[in-house]
Amino acid sequence: CGIVGYIGHRQAWTVVLKGLKRLEYRGYDSAGIALINEAGDLNIYKKAGKVVELEKYSTDKDKSGTIGMGHTRWATHGEPSDRNSHPHISNNGRLSIIHNGIIENYSVLKEELLTRGHEFKSDTDTEVLIHLIEEIYKLENVDLLEAVRLALQEVTGAYAIVIVDQDNPDQLIAARKGSPMVIGVGEGEYFIASDASPIIEYTKNVIYMNDNEIALVTREELLVKRLDNVVQTPVIQELEMKLDMLEKGGYEHFMLKEIYEQSRSIRDCMRGRIYPNEGLVQLGGIKEYADKLKNIDRIIIVACGTSWHAGLVGEYLIEEYARIPVEVEYASEFRYRNPIITEKDVVIAISQSGETADTMAAIEMAKEKGATIFGVCNVVGSSIPRLTHAGVYTHAGPEIGVASTKAFTAQVTVLTLMAFYMAQQKGTLTQAKLVELLTELDCIPDKVAKALESNALIEEIAAKFKDSRNCLFLGRGSGFPVALEGALKLKEISYIHAEGYPAAEMKHGPIALIDEEMPVVVIATKNSSYEKVISNIQEVKARKGIVLAIVTEGDTEVRKMADYCIEIPDSSEAFLPLLATIPLQLLSYHIALMRGCNVDQPRNLAKSVTVE
Ligand code: G6P
Repeated sequence: CGIVGYIGHRQAWTVVLKGLKRLEYRGYDSAGIALINEAGDLNIYKKAGKVVELEKYSTDKDKSGTIGMGHTRWATHGEPSDRNSHPHISNNGRLSIIHNGIIENYSVLKEELLTRGHEFKSDTDTEVLIHLIEEIYKLENVDLLEAVRLALQEVTGAYAIVIVDQDNPDQLIAARKGSPMVIGVGEGEYFIASDASPIIEYTKNVIYMNDNEIALVTREELLVKRLDNVVQTPVIQELEMKLDMLEKGGYEHFMLKEIYEQSRSIRDCMRGRIYPNEGLVQLGGIKEYADKLKNIDRIIIVACGTSWHAGLVGEYLIEEYARIPVEVEYASEFRYRNPIITEKDVVIAISQSGETADTMAAIEMAKEKGATIFGVCNVVGSSIPRLTHAGVYTHAGPEIGVASTKAFTAQVTVLTLMAFYMAQQKGTLTQAKLVELLTELDCIPDKVAKALESNALIEEIAAKFKDSRNCLFLGRGSGFPVALEGALKLKEISYIHAEGYPAAEMKHGPIALIDEEMPVVVIATKNSSYEKVISNIQEVKARKGIVLAIVTEGDTEVRKMADYCIEIPDSSEAFLPLLATIPLQLLSYHIALMRGCNVDQPRNLAKSVTVE
């Protein structure tokens, strides 16, 4: 979910609504806004659906007021509906809350409040929290800040909350535990948001709230306390993000813009980190651990979704070049499995948003057991980089499309750099080999640009596949994670069922699905497994499947068998994922568009999953 709060001299509606649109990638089941007008009335408008639905619904309403807050939801408790939308109100209707996260003990709290005569209007955990705050506020004879602080001590779970109170019309209260929250500091005004995107056009000065902190925000001042009542001195940081990074810049969709940005984003990711002539990689973020890397037993990569696919590419690269054993784990499985972790392990947590709840929990567990934790994140200042011992940012710039594209290739780039860096420390690659690999890596952004030139052809091919009900993606070696990612992209945004498989495993199951209607996308570039992949293509063709092959420029052999071919520039196997991913992203994009799907905001998904 996304949250925005504002207090100052501007009309809060405008700031909050615009902010919600920027945060919509975090969830778009429903949206709502609360405002206090000049007369001191608390006005709440909420609606199931996207932020524009709320906007339409509110056209003729009183939207005045210089204090307000809003929410865009990704449903956890309770179906998306008007009544389950945030903000929620207290029993007396005077207190109002927006919440991102989950209150785990809400049912116990709810029962207790029911016996005290509270009536609930929604099925949400959030409403229980605001009723609890109201109860404490009434009974304990304390101010609102203290009532919120006491209430939060009774809560288990994760939250980022903002509260407005009709009886305290010149203050906002905010708190965070496990869900992100940034406060923007202006002149006589403050902004609160889940990330910096709603804030950037007003101020560059921000404070990242820490877990277990609560803030009292008025027009003039900001008071931050820990939940144990110790007052904190907030640190103001300057944002690096620019406003144009959050706009579509002439493209029809964010996803398309982000696909096309990849030549630049991969270049940015390598900037100042590789020195091809010297065969040198420098990663300032992990250099303190350079010695430790010489003697580690094992690397465990934890991640979710697309980031997990990047992890699989990382496994291939680190094992190949640094000769360190790597395990790649879904963070959600790893954290509940009592895994064996020692002080000699290095855990690499990969996350675009830096906020994924399962990945954070996996990090905390591994940290407790003594492992060294590196982060590979895109969002600067997010929670994971602050939780890890060290890390390397991907510097892809804000990714707004819910389906990850440029963040994935940037993650793969960082993992490539890490693999070479580790090889450098361990001496598993000669200087000459490093010179050769880095020289090639340096050319990858240009090759990505070349791969993008196939867009028109890919659009034509997409038209042939757009009505398919299923699709298989096959690859071997480092082409296997590419196949998984290709399948994920297609199913996420076009709702066509798709599966990625190691090409050789096809005969142990998926082959049963192949008939003349089944499209099979095969990564068939000229790498170590080229001949074997050709055999796999023959197996598909023998069963009349339709083959779309991603091939190396100038390939003639696969072309004889495949129904369609898309060429990518020649490269070593190490860099294949960076190139072969590009046509698959475009393929999904065009298919989804032709099927009339919302490419940037596919149904049921959210970009930043801050609940487990
Ligand atoms: C969500 C997003 C995916 C993303 C995954 C992990 O499911 O929709 O695109 O890969 O979370 O997110 P992270 O921010 O940790 O990379």
